[in-house]
Amino acid sequence: MKQFGSHIRSSLFKSKIIFLFLLIVIAVPCVSQNKTTIPVETSQNALVLQMDKDNHPLIIYFGKKLSNSAEYATIPGQVLQHDGNAGIYNSAYTPAGSWSLVEPAIRLTHADGNTSLDLLYINHQAKQEDDNISVTTVLLRDPVYNSEVTLYYKVYKRENVIEQWSVIVNKEKKPIVLNKYASANLYFMAGDYYLRHYHGSWASEMKPEETKLTAGIKVLDSKLGTRANLYGPPSFMVSFDKPATEDEGKVLLGTLAWTGNYQFDFEMDSYHNLRLISGINSFASEYTLNPGQEFKTPSFITTYSEHGTGEASRNLHNWARKYRLLDGQGSRLTLLNNWEATYFDFDETKLTGLFKDAKKLGVDMFLLDDGWFANKYPRNSDRAGLGDWQENVKKLPHGIGYLVKEAKEAGVKFGIWLEPEMVNPKSELYEKHKDWVIRQPERPEHYFRNQLVLDLSNPEVQNFVFGVVDSLFIKNPELAFIKWDCNAVIYNANSAYLKKTNQPQTHLYVDYVRGLYKVLERVRAKYPKVPMMLCSGGGGRADYEALKYFTEFWPSDDTDPLERIYMQWEYSYFFPAIATCNHITDWSSMPLKYRTDVAMTGKMGYDIVVSKLGESDLQFSQQAVANYKSISDIIWHGDEYRLASPWEKPFAALQFVNNSKDKAIVFAYLTNFRFMNTTTSATPVQFKGLDLQKKYRIKEINLYPGTTSTITTDTVYSGEYLMTVGFNPDVNTRRTSVILQVDEAR
Ligand code: DGJ
Repeated sequence: MKQFGSHIRSSLFKSKIIFLFLLIVIAVPCVSQNKTTIPVETSQNALVLQMDKDNHPLIIYFGKKLSNSAEYATIPGQVLQHDGNAGIYNSAYTPAGSWSLVEPAIRLTHADGNTSLDLLYINHQAKQEDDNISVTTVLLRDPVYNSEVTLYYKVYKRENVIEQWSVIVNKEKKPIVLNKYASANLYFMAGDYYLRHYHGSWASEMKPEETKLTAGIKVLDSKLGTRANLYGPPSFMVSFDKPATEDEGKVLLGTLAWTGNYQFDFEMDSYHNLRLISGINSFASEYTLNPGQEFKTPSFITTYSEHGTGEASRNLHNWARKYRLLDGQGSRLTLLNNWEATYFDFDETKLTGLFKDAKKLGVDMFLLDDGWFANKYPRNSDRAGLGDWQENVKKLPHGIGYLVKEAKEAGVKFGIWLEPEMVNPKSELYEKHKDWVIRQPERPEHYFRNQLVLDLSNPEVQNFVFGVVDSLFIKNPELAFIKWDCNAVIYNANSAYLKKTNQPQTHLYVDYVRGLYKVLERVRAKYPKVPMMLCSGGGGRADYEALKYFTEFWPSDDTDPLERIYMQWEYSYFFPAIATCNHITDWSSMPLKYRTDVAMTGKMGYDIVVSKLGESDLQFSQQAVANYKSISDIIWHGDEYRLASPWEKPFAALQFVNNSKDKAIVFAYLTNFRFMNTTTSATPVQFKGLDLQKKYRIKEINLYPGTTSTITTDTVYSGEYLMTVGFNPDVNTRRTSVILQVDEAR
């Protein structure tokens, strides 16, 4: 980032007190040349706001923190932008319709139809919630119309994470309309900006693209409504000056905690500075606020590192495990899922056989997937039955209760698949409750996977969806897991409920997501602990608001291990391994060991026909489950390091290190299978995150029966050696995947 010198003129602010586990409010005025300056600091970084002479809030600095926070105040004096646009680009929350002509963070229509807005600083506060978390709020008000916006900056100091959102309050006497209502508005000054963002579709999620930003606006967005991330997740990274690498460079990771339509605007201004506006996509979503009503925008979460993407992603992992992901510091269940093994074709006998297979494999749980419900229109394919959540009496004459009992007898837990937000037109639910379905009554219906979306803006539908989950648990208190699927997007966005209650149709996209959260709140209030997988026909939902309620997510239906190496690599920048479900399936013909080794870098599961495994494959898998259980603590809770990128080399390598640095696991995979690809195995891979002084022994684990390792275990290496010289896992066409266990030699 561009650096600025400084000279201090005056400082009234110095925060001195640490409040341990107390909620105490302190006012933190920091005034230089009569300008209020508000530093928002993590342990390493700072985002600094300052008011201009008219009290507009500006962002004057983003980057490495200064040791003397009083010095921030004079930074603007170093920035010589003197044309007519000066001082308007770096607004901390750009209003539309008055002095700013750039992309706004907020645009609204007042009760009298006027579309102008100005937001002036009123006051700010900083609350120390504990020794790590503080929340700074900045209250802004329109001097003419009185409406207010409060900007929130929640700092997780040790994790270097800032969570931002805004709350907009209608202080007028009549309703106002929010036309755009961002969560955050940031401003960066650097030589160049490199945006890494993601695109894809079903079974090809999370394809990265890195692009140098040029003048103008680059918009990333979704308008899909439900599985909003299908074509791209609400996560990105921006490198400053040059593309960041794993260990070098300045990089910001950003992610919006919203399970619906989102929008990120990256606008490079005429000074070559970068404006970033992020929030809910306001497309077709103008939102009316009645007098006194407020609108809380979703959280925009960022972390910044000057030491590359590795550190930035570990920041986010630490934050997510501790503060966001449900049970992020807990453990997870290994499982056998029947989806790819049976699809819709199963009955009680087949399933009870699979319970025994799960037990034989050694996993904790059997997960029954789609196809277990509906009678008038049985769910024997994806064309019928969705919405009718009664056990199909032909397939399951004794009901779910019997299966839970049988699974228990077989020695495994029992989990179940649901897709409660959706309906097939061929269902009793549709016949009975067309008014619950999102559709345009005057237009032909459009289907996505033969189904439609229920209208979660409607409280009755919320009750129904909650009831689907609740009644399953009431009848089967020993249910151990839910896979919550969501396969359709919203076509023909229109709500009978909003019409009936005289609310604008433009509330639908927002109220749908809010309705979903209301249901999930209720589910979690009653069933706080049951693990739930966030699944959306693959990776159509992967965001940190939904993950408050879910213990894990399904990144993609594509379980081809070679594809998964790249996909999991990209997801791993934003999500910790404990959150990422990786299943071993028969999707590809790659060796079972390769498929297993790739799945082990997250939350491992199986979706295979165990009875068809040959003796060696079964023996290998049983050992793999046991191995995984012995190392999963390091994978789930340790620090993740990406060692060799498959995008750059003919192989990939990654590593997890436990907190005391006495244990690590290294995974290495061949990704280019060309004959005599000598670059693969010629050079060692430098390990990371170990203790320089400690001595380590290395052992290859998860060997396929009948094979021997080429790695000798008799040498002891220093941490310094392993991180400087490196170690060669000897990945080659005969050893396409290798797992190394690194233990301190005592
Ligand atoms: C999509 C999911 O991603 C799959 O894993 C499976 O659960 C199917 N839906 C079932 O319909």
